[in-house]
Amino acid sequence: MTIAAEATPSSAPSEQQVKTSLKVGVPKEIYPGEQRVSATPDTAKVLQKMGFEVWVETGAGLSANFSDASYEAVGCHLCPDARQLWAIADIVLKVRPPQAHPDLGVHEATLTRSGQTLISFLWPAQNPALLEQLAANQATAIAMDSVPRITRAQKMDALSSMANLAGYRAVIEAANQFGRFFTGQITAAGKVPPAKVLVIGAGVAGLAALGAARGLGAIVRAFDTRPVVKEQVESMGAEFLELHFEEDGSGAGGYAKEMSPEFIKAEMALFAAQAKDVDIIITTALIPGRPAPKLITRDMVESMKAGSVIVDMAAEQGGNCEVTRPGEIYRYHDVAIVGLTDLPSRMANQASQLYGTNLCHLLKDMGGAEHYTIDYEDEVVRGALVLHEGELKWPAPKPAAPPLPAAAAPKEAPAPAMLKPEPKSKGWLWMILIGAALIGIGLGAPESFLSHFIVFVLACFVGWQVIWNVAPALHTPLMSVTNAISGIIILGGMLQISGPVTAPTTVLGAIAILVGTINIAGGFWVTQRMLNMFRK
Ligand code: NAI
Repeated sequence: MTIAAEATPSSAPSEQQVKTSLKVGVPKEIYPGEQRVSATPDTAKVLQKMGFEVWVETGAGLSANFSDASYEAVGCHLCPDARQLWAIADIVLKVRPPQAHPDLGVHEATLTRSGQTLISFLWPAQNPALLEQLAANQATAIAMDSVPRITRAQKMDALSSMANLAGYRAVIEAANQFGRFFTGQITAAGKVPPAKVLVIGAGVAGLAALGAARGLGAIVRAFDTRPVVKEQVESMGAEFLELHFEEDGSGAGGYAKEMSPEFIKAEMALFAAQAKDVDIIITTALIPGRPAPKLITRDMVESMKAGSVIVDMAAEQGGNCEVTRPGEIYRYHDVAIVGLTDLPSRMANQASQLYGTNLCHLLKDMGGAEHYTIDYEDEVVRGALVLHEGELKWPAPKPAAPPLPAAAAPKEAPAPAMLKPEPKSKGWLWMILIGAALIGIGLGAPESFLSHFIVFVLACFVGWQVIWNVAPALHTPLMSVTNAISGIIILGGMLQISGPVTAPTTVLGAIAILVGTINIAGGFWVTQRMLNMFRK
């Protein structure tokens, strides 16, 4: 698809533009207090490079600090009328799910049409009525909250990019309510102890929160039902609190599963003890599709020190704390309870940039403007697809389970007669051949050659054992060993190279020096790259 050459920014759509270009519409968000926008000037540029024509509602980016002029400057078209924008767009990009439009007096879902795709957060499990409205209009809808959490989809994972911002912002909001330093200090005026922060739930938001709190100098503790996060928590300098309880909270797709009442009881006893000690609690515990587990009781809040803070990041899903009021900050028994539900929106500029980038990656995955298609074979698109031309497609069928590893399928073992597989018999054949060759060499070769040959064979054997039997985690120490061996090889090569240039020993010595040097230099290079990964 090409962008109409005569299109002028801010102009109304001409007939030719409507016919020829795939248009992306960026309406102004209407959810009260929402400051994000689904495309920034930078991401709009990327969309244009993909061949889309970008139409932005006038003022859509203002609360995220993107002026209308900044959109015009990159070649976007401004449209002052929301209804007209929805009418001309082939693809509508939004942040919040459609809702009743305060100015137009209609629900945004009624502005959709057949042949149009809406891409937005939709929360299909929680919004069946919205799905019905969109289906009635034969619309196609893709939910950013349903993008599968697989490695390939990480760049489209808006849940993670928003959770990352929210976790950081939760700490900033806590600091705003907390009347003390986070870091400990020894000053002429006295000693200031560091603040103690407890993070409950160490998923994307929790890890971002504990990173930010550590950055400010607090002592941070964290707890999660999934023991796999212990290492991540500790690698960020926080302490992982452990419950000696045999139950793993890891569910499908990296998410948590609902825990047994016994586990929740034990976990709450841990939090009750922590509540008396810590200054700030940040809760992020969520189970997909379920109300947030209630983990901090009224009694625990009352046991906290005066001036403490609780930031309940699960407020929108009912809250992890019994006294949270969603969307509000208030004081309960001298403890500030922060129930804000718009944490990413409070960093609207950066949140819009990250969300817009997630959308660009998704549209690229869908073929860009030229090959734009809803591909059912694409695991990411199929996972996020909620409606296709009005037909309900959510939830997506679960992908087929990968085949069981051979060891896990004893019933599939071959019949006894088949137990001697062919490759093994070939291995025996090789052994016999090599053995015969060695005997032949032993009988025919001169004695001086034999002593060198034995050293050579042993070196091959030791080298093989060193490299093939080392666990991947030990590859770095292995590199030092092979570097040392390469050093010996270089020395040996240097001793041999002193003869005439054409002598086989000189040539072999030169090759040994070359290969040894490549190994040593490569080892240093790889080590340097690995060290750089840990440097800020
Ligand atoms: P989330 O927002 O659904 O849950 C937050 C955290 O709460 C989770 O870590 C969960 O284990 C924890 N939790 C639930 N019930 C709890 C309880 N009773 N007590 C304490 N903690 C509790 O999860 P989020 O942050 O969106 O993602 C969770 C995980 O998913 C990530 O840590 C990662 O392993 C995986 N993931 C994978 C991605 C990928 O491969 N593309 C992308 C994003 C996440």
